[in-house]
Amino acid sequence: RIVYLNGEFVPFEQARVPIMDRGFLFADGIYEVSAILDGKLVDNAAHLARLDRSLGEIGIRNPHDAAGWERLQTELVARNGVTEGLVYMQVTRGVAERDFAFPKGDVAPTVMMFTQAKSVLANPLAETGARIITVEDLRWKRRDIKSVALLAQVLAKQQAAEAGVAEAWMVEDGAVTEGSSSTAFIVSRERVLVTRPLSTALLPGITRAAVLRLAQEADLRIEERLIPVAEAYEAQEAFYTSASAFVMPVVEIDNRTIGEGRPGPITRRMRALYIEAAR
Ligand code: PDD
Repeated sequence: RIVYLNGEFVPFEQARVPIMDRGFLFADGIYEVSAILDGKLVDNAAHLARLDRSLGEIGIRNPHDAAGWERLQTELVARNGVTEGLVYMQVTRGVAERDFAFPKGDVAPTVMMFTQAKSVLANPLAETGARIITVEDLRWKRRDIKSVALLAQVLAKQQAAEAGVAEAWMVEDGAVTEGSSSTAFIVSRERVLVTRPLSTALLPGITRAAVLRLAQEADLRIEERLIPVAEAYEAQEAFYTSASAFVMPVVEIDNRTIGEGRPGPITRRMRALYIEAAR
């Protein structure tokens, strides 16, 4: 397995980062995840645009333009022979003596990428639908930045794992913000596709944007508004989206059955449309 670290393609076992890396000390960094399908990167331009924006928001210089990133990603994918899976990218503020404020001088960011070969299309959970729980959203106020500071999401996903379910939807003031690593959608009693509007309260999901565009093209009714947990329990359908899950049906929230307890027709349609558009 070959990974990318600071300008070099190296064997996984040889890739090392110093203990003073600010990603390690402060979670002072940004990441992105793009899917690979049929050997091609899915919606990659949008992921790279979000990477650039996230880096800008915390004042880390983007080490590459989009074309430069894509060249490196493509080479890494080819070197690892991955036809289906994920490519993970991370940039931290670099290595410096521990001090909360940014290091002085021109400290080079640490740039790292790896691939994961795995089946994203033939996910058995997409057939049965996922069971999920809700948890309190414990995060900071700039969730629009794709930061590697993921402790609240780690704890949320662990709660889900301990409950034997696939995902946790995080809740603030009685409404769903988003999944621990996904965007939340429901199909309301009125058969309207509902997802939370973009703000600093959640990550602007790339899959979310694609699904909304495809839903619009399919003439579905769409509302971008808050999803009260009580409404999610009563929804006709529910699903979550991400680069790694695509469109994942939800059939149970906090032990309450959603709809008929199997993936609903609008959810299945959105998954099919998304996969078709991604290929
Ligand atoms: N997570 N919200 C959060 C908090 C996320 O971490 C993610 C993605 C999403 C979905 O965004 P997108 O559709 O752009 O993948 C929403 C990635 C996959 C991860 O952390 O592995």
